[in-house]
Amino acid sequence: MNRRDFIKFAGMSAGLIYTGAWLSACGGGGGGGNGVVKNPLYIPSDSGLLGYLRPSGGFTLTGQTSYHEIFPGKSTKMLTYQTSVNGKSYINPIIVLRNGDNFDVNFENKLGEKSIIHWHGFRADWQADGHPSYAVADGNTYSYPTIKIIDRSGTYFYHPHPHGRTGYQVYMGLAGMIIIEDTDEDNLRNALDLQLGVTDVPLIIQDKTFDSNGQLVYNPIGMNGNMGFWGEQVLVNLTPNPYMDVERRIYRFRLLNGSNARPYRLSLLRGSQNMRFWVIGVEGVLLSAPQQVTEILIAPGERIDILIDFRDANVGDVLRLYSGQHNLVGMQGGGMGGSNLINREFEVLEFRVVRDSTYDRRIPTTLSSISAIDTTNATQLSLPLGASNGQFTIDGKVWDNNNALADYGYNFNNGDIVKITFTNNTGMYHPIHLHGFQFQVLSRSSGSLRATDKGWKDTVIVGPHETVTIAVDMSHSFTQEQVYLLHCHILEHHDAGMMVNYRVSA
Ligand code: C2O
Ligand code: CU
Ligand code: CU
Repeated sequence: MNRRDFIKFAGMSAGLIYTGAWLSACGGGGGGGNGVVKNPLYIPSDSGLLGYLRPSGGFTLTGQTSYHEIFPGKSTKMLTYQTSVNGKSYINPIIVLRNGDNFDVNFENKLGEKSIIHWHGFRADWQADGHPSYAVADGNTYSYPTIKIIDRSGTYFYHPHPHGRTGYQVYMGLAGMIIIEDTDEDNLRNALDLQLGVTDVPLIIQDKTFDSNGQLVYNPIGMNGNMGFWGEQVLVNLTPNPYMDVERRIYRFRLLNGSNARPYRLSLLRGSQNMRFWVIGVEGVLLSAPQQVTEILIAPGERIDILIDFRDANVGDVLRLYSGQHNLVGMQGGGMGGSNLINREFEVLEFRVVRDSTYDRRIPTTLSSISAIDTTNATQLSLPLGASNGQFTIDGKVWDNNNALADYGYNFNNGDIVKITFTNNTGMYHPIHLHGFQFQVLSRSSGSLRATDKGWKDTVIVGPHETVTIAVDMSHSFTQEQVYLLHCHILEHHDAGMMVNYRVSA
């Protein structure tokens, strides 16, 4: 792909065809059923890979090499976070915290290159946020200032954030989930009799490419990798072609899109029938009310909590969480349909309804309370998303750590309400993410807000040639100037500089 093609693509949705060998077994429309070997979904427990870690004091996460059998008989070399707490060891632990907790953590770097961990979605001081300025070299440890957990119940994310290497490090395996609980969570759990690890199940969705020895291949596509990395194999909790046995009752799933560039357009199919499910939470909060849907879009960095009521199905039924084609990369149609790496459809997870149950709970009508941000005195800010010289830009510029939005004339203070309008002048979607604060989505030029646009968010999809306006509440209790980031969460865009600092005075 030469520069001119890139510009054309970036600006005009030109169609570029990529034919990836799709390792994943799903050959045809329905996915599965083609002699594919399905594997039981890896469901985390109280230790080990993705084990639930409820810290009672400080602990250290060490980033280092580890080996995992993702495919039988093959040992895949990865980079992961490891720790030992109270005699249990963990790999990429799911950290369970409660609103009001003090979170004390160190990051020990044994990765062979600089890194730092970012607590994606937390409203924390920037010294504790994992800004790339705080990256530590191999062999060093960063001790985070204590983070007072002020966020509400939801599903959060942690991952590396060194400048220019985030995409590679996340791809190699450095990614984990955080669950924050509060009384809204207690109420939901009681109302629906949910049990973490049994009927409340984390689903970390990632796409990766493996060579014939089962080793990870990282090959972002497009000029300079500017379309990001799109993997050939979709994994859920590092399980290829997963299935899960379920009972006829309600389950909650915490979806985290931990992919580098791939969005998923998820529906729940029984045969070709679209089944309903409910969105109950987005990044930073449980929604005030459940939203019944038949599909959702989830972009890298987003988390969406859903409920599925398997009483809608019968014992013996097979339901598929299925990812359909999307129009986020401006290259559908024209016969490219399901055959290219970027915009094909595939099965993500198969549910086998194996048992009846006497379960008789109903989905509560109220889950939380969320007040709309009052934007009457909001500062207005307009940030076009564009492309120039083969790079994606924010407000016409690429990353410079010495710059911040303030240098472009935007100054913010603690307590400001800021309306930001993102106008995407490119043919590719960009999931825009803010550090430091959460926001509410106000409008979307392509139509009404989606179920997944509601609530308090930290990442929002801005589709090709779409305009999205958000309102950011820039307040929490910091006492010094904060430097936070605003960036695209397609990790290769972020690494290439589709990112900007913004400063907020105390
Ligand atoms: Cu999840 Cu700055 O990123
Ligand atoms: Cu973040
Ligand atoms: Cu982007």
